[in-house]
Amino acid sequence: MHVNDLDTPALTVDLDVLEDNIQRMQAFLDERKIRCRPHIKTHKIPAIAHMQLKAGAKGVTCQTLAEAEAMAASGIDDILLCFNIVGRNKLERLARLAARTTIAVAVDSDIVARGISEAATGYGSTVGLVVECDTGGRRTGVPTPQASLALAQIISGLPAVEFRGIMTYSGGFPEEGYNQAVDAFFRQTLELFAKGGLRAEIVSAHATVYILRDQWPHGITETRPGMYVYYDRMKILQSPATLEQCALTVRCTIVSRPAEDRAIFDAGRKTFSNEGADLGIGLGHIVEHPEAAVYGMSEEHGHADVSSCHPKPEVGERVTVIPNYASLVTSLGEVVYGTRGERIETVWPIAKRGIIH
Ligand SMILES: Cc1ncc(COP(=O)(O)O)c(C=O)c1O
Repeated sequence: MHVNDLDTPALTVDLDVLEDNIQRMQAFLDERKIRCRPHIKTHKIPAIAHMQLKAGAKGVTCQTLAEAEAMAASGIDDILLCFNIVGRNKLERLARLAARTTIAVAVDSDIVARGISEAATGYGSTVGLVVECDTGGRRTGVPTPQASLALAQIISGLPAVEFRGIMTYSGGFPEEGYNQAVDAFFRQTLELFAKGGLRAEIVSAHATVYILRDQWPHGITETRPGMYVYYDRMKILQSPATLEQCALTVRCTIVSRPAEDRAIFDAGRKTFSNEGADLGIGLGHIVEHPEAAVYGMSEEHGHADVSSCHPKPEVGERVTVIPNYASLVTSLGEVVYGTRGERIETVWPIAKRGIIH
């Protein structure tokens, strides 16, 4: 099937670019002897996770229990789940999952650790736990190395859970100097662990942007790049990534040219989200008309200023749009078409998209 036979809007992934992105990141981390545990929230596609593992990744990272279940169902047996699991239903699902696969879950309180321990005890499984540290991201995480030690000690005394290590996440836009903050936090934490006889087998930090800055904290054993598989316009803003490395695009059709300077295409916020609207970079990049400025989106329409385009797009023309934030496009989409040149080679359903946790 030719890519132009797809109805629009349609999510497509350039397989050559995807494979390249996976290989390049893996080689970069191999050189530094840091394990790559890719975050699959970016794509939510087991087949891509298996490509990452085949390239050399050691396990995967998930953000929701549903993602972890989908990855385990595809045969992946080493998962880090970076989310406090709370509530009876989820705890039971986690305990059940742990009976089938090796899973470590990030926790930042004894309440969550005890809940997991109870559920796993009831189910007869063992769940690995890593202490999440807040090293400046100000989302979740214990606030100090001393609190990290205290939680690790509590975990070590609980049944049906196993202390596995520590992790931290910077948030979307890590500030300069962030690595020094992680370094200081990890150094002190690992010293306290050593004194307390605790061994952190997983010491996990950083995501795509900071990995590409090539700055590393003390003791790191593994890292969790997500967006590097697809890249997008926001990653280009934050890192050396280029438009040519953006693997995920949305195929759209120009449906209206209501004014000389305006073109309207058939996908809006329900396809792209509104992410990056405040960054002054517009809402997408039209590959065939790089001078066009995608200045707005309503729910089903994309609005482009085409006054600088020569020639200008015409009604019925198909265009390829690089999104600002690929991870949200994944969550809004249903399937992704893998393309090789202009040919569609594969179709991948997106697992556990939307708000399913
Ligand atoms: C805990 C955690 N680790 C890793 C990542 C991957 O980040 P990126 O997609 O920027 O590589 C994320 C993304 O939100 C995350 O929440």
